[in-house]
Amino acid sequence: MTTRVIAVGGADAAAARLAACLGGTVCPLAQRRFPDGEHYLRVLGAVEGADVVLVAHLHPVDPLLVDIVFLADALRELGARQVGLVVPYLAYMRQDRRFQPGEAVTSVSFARLLSRSVDWLATVDPHLHRHAALSAIYSVPALAVPSAPAIARWIRAEVPDAVVVGPDEESGQWVDEVARLAGCPGITGRKLRHGDRSVEIAWPALQPWRGRPAVLVDDIVSSGQTLVTALQGLGAQGLQAAACVVVHGLFAQDAAQRLQEAGASRLVVCNTLPQAGLPLIDVLGDLAEAAARLIAPRQG
Ligand code: R5P
Repeated sequence: MTTRVIAVGGADAAAARLAACLGGTVCPLAQRRFPDGEHYLRVLGAVEGADVVLVAHLHPVDPLLVDIVFLADALRELGARQVGLVVPYLAYMRQDRRFQPGEAVTSVSFARLLSRSVDWLATVDPHLHRHAALSAIYSVPALAVPSAPAIARWIRAEVPDAVVVGPDEESGQWVDEVARLAGCPGITGRKLRHGDRSVEIAWPALQPWRGRPAVLVDDIVSSGQTLVTALQGLGAQGLQAAACVVVHGLFAQDAAQRLQEAGASRLVVCNTLPQAGLPLIDVLGDLAEAAARLIAPRQG
């Protein structure tokens, strides 16, 4: 049984790690754009009869979707036994409902597109809020690896007396689990989003936690506005933010700088996306274990 791991769109480090964990090898890929922008892809290794795992950092996502669909098709034609997809960050999960009439519910459409292309999918903490589970929208087997154990280990080691704080109700699922595993109290605010960069957060009474270091935990930082507003709210109630821990650091435009200016002295992210210069919490080992569980049933 041969496992070949292919890095799509430059996910080379993650692909090498996955290949090592899975006891497989990296299969090289040639990819470039034609002068008109269309995608050229060429699988450079033997994949006939192999269990192939595509690995991609889905940020920015749209060009990678095209690569994944084309590659999965090509790999089947080349005789791959199965084509799985490991995406440490699963994009397009936040538009999980038609908030305004006429909007595309992109989480569902994206799931349909991927489910038609790959045999299975593994990811880390997708933004499951209005969709209860990946199986609600993905028709292929899909595993969501929790980052809470790794984040809790980090908190226990670095800020053992923390109060774990989530900025909104969505973050409650991560905050509760991280707090439980770290043996710390956990609280969440209630967020009202007025626009991409305009949010309000209402907090429960925070007096009981004054004097304890707060660790803000959220699944995604994009514009950074949620965490900036949370830092301001905590500060106004006399809570000192010791760190912000984020699962998926998208850091759109000047988000990292705005967070620093708002007092996020210690910003830590999980290694689901390539990051420059930030401390990382490793979740790729757990992701490889999930991939192994998904590969096995198709090996016959
Ligand atoms: C949504 O509710 C997510 O959990 C994050 O809080 C959100 O995506 C963060 O986005 P931003 O950094 O743009 O405020």
